[in-house]
Amino acid sequence: MLILKDLDDDGWHFATSRASRKGRELAANPQAALNFYWQQQGRQIRVAGGVVELSEAASVSDWHARPGADGSDNADWQLYALRPREIEFWQARHDRRHIRHRFGPESFS
Ligand SMILES: Cc1cc2nc3c(=O)[nH]c(=O)nc-3n(C[C@H](O)[C@H](O)[C@H](O)COP(=O)(O)O)c2cc1C
Repeated sequence: MLILKDLDDDGWHFATSRASRKGRELAANPQAALNFYWQQQGRQIRVAGGVVELSEAASVSDWHARPGADGSDNADWQLYALRPREIEFWQARHDRRHIRHRFGPESFS
């Protein structure tokens, strides 16, 4: 579970430590999927695509903007942006005839 930090022309922003497992995995294979889930509504949105590292200045600023930030530095903290290649909207139905809409690269061109 990660906090979605922003959404702009760079993509869907999230931040983590480059030294964490997912930081190392992203360095080796910069691909990810974000999954948003609303249990009460039986609804899911899945956003998948390539991940880029945002600037050092943006990463430092994100680190210092965290709730409870104490002025310490974390040189490993990295802000990333996921650039969607595919978005899937999924809606559960009580009759189990679930609805799924998938938009791939052909939809974005
Ligand atoms: C509500 C919530 C929000 C979180 N937000 C973040 C986040 O923005 N960035 C982050 O690195 N970890 C966040 N975490 C912790 C991650 O889920 C995860 O446990 C951690 O990043 C370690 O992952 P790793 O397996 O890559 O080491 C959050 C956890 C919770 C419960």
